[in-house]
Amino acid sequence: MFDAKRFAESKADELKSVKGKGIIAVSGGVDSTVAAILVQRAVGDQLKCVFVDTGLLRKNEAESAMENFVRVGLSVKKVEAQQRFFDALKGVVDPEEKRKRIGELFIRIFEEEAREFGAEWLVQGTIAPDWIESGSGIRDNIKSHHNVGGLPKDLELTLVEPLRDLYKDEVRKVGKAVGLPEDVYSRQPFPGPGLAIRVLGEVTPEKAGLVREACAIVEEEIEAAVERGECEKPWQYYAALLPVRSVGVQGDKRAYGWTIVVRAVQSLDAMTAASSQLPNPLLKRISIRICNSLKQHVNRVVYDLTDKPPGTVEWE
Ligand code: XMP
Repeated sequence: MFDAKRFAESKADELKSVKGKGIIAVSGGVDSTVAAILVQRAVGDQLKCVFVDTGLLRKNEAESAMENFVRVGLSVKKVEAQQRFFDALKGVVDPEEKRKRIGELFIRIFEEEAREFGAEWLVQGTIAPDWIESGSGIRDNIKSHHNVGGLPKDLELTLVEPLRDLYKDEVRKVGKAVGLPEDVYSRQPFPGPGLAIRVLGEVTPEKAGLVREACAIVEEEIEAAVERGECEKPWQYYAALLPVRSVGVQGDKRAYGWTIVVRAVQSLDAMTAASSQLPNPLLKRISIRICNSLKQHVNRVVYDLTDKPPGTVEWE
């Protein structure tokens, strides 16, 4: 049995031996928040926390993440990097190339912030599935998780990864054990590369805007349905924008718009997942709201029935 309290205590003791200053990028998700709290407990103000606004975050995510940091006692600097990320992604279609460019830009930003603070090490909230699926010698590279696959060979900082042996459910237990509020430690996962891997094909600010709105509708409708007791809460739920246009009709006019796919899965550790069986009326409400809100752009909504394997949770 995994003992979260003991893990947190022994990790904090172990981290006390790390000398000098360090930096961590917190996303507001459970992994980086737990990593930051463990390291901060061990080294105090020798740790600098930064939050990078990539322009690829969900609706209101930057604001709510910054509020949550205050709630959990972390002092965090916000770095505005939206334009840099869109520039790095210009013309890039290949999913692995996208992940590598995003990972690399994150690291360059960390290095800049580290230099300013005089930090020598970088804390990452890497967990076991991140490096297992990024290929670790004997395993195939399924996809390069951004906090693993994008690491440049000339990284100026020493890596500290206090959660690398844990799975998501264990990280949540540690989050609870160190006193995080439930809405923080039970937050659904959100990938480091953000909405970039939910816009299939080239990412533009406009397409990121469409998928941001669709993701917000999926989250709102599913959470409201769970609240009313209409279905079990999926482990993760979101929308992605497919690079597929189809013919439809809007009013009495021909439309030729993009396709949104809705994905909801049950999982424990992200290594395998089952497509959630959502009630039809809920799916219908989601479809109607997405088509109404994104009228000029989207005229078709589909639901993904695939488990992992053979699919993965994200589409890229
Ligand atoms: P996949 O798509 O690999 O996703 O089945 C498994 C879980 O990991 C999340 N995910 C990521 N998380 N950096 C992250 O921090 C990444 O690059 C990344 N890619 C996928 C995904 O949302 C799911 O919860």
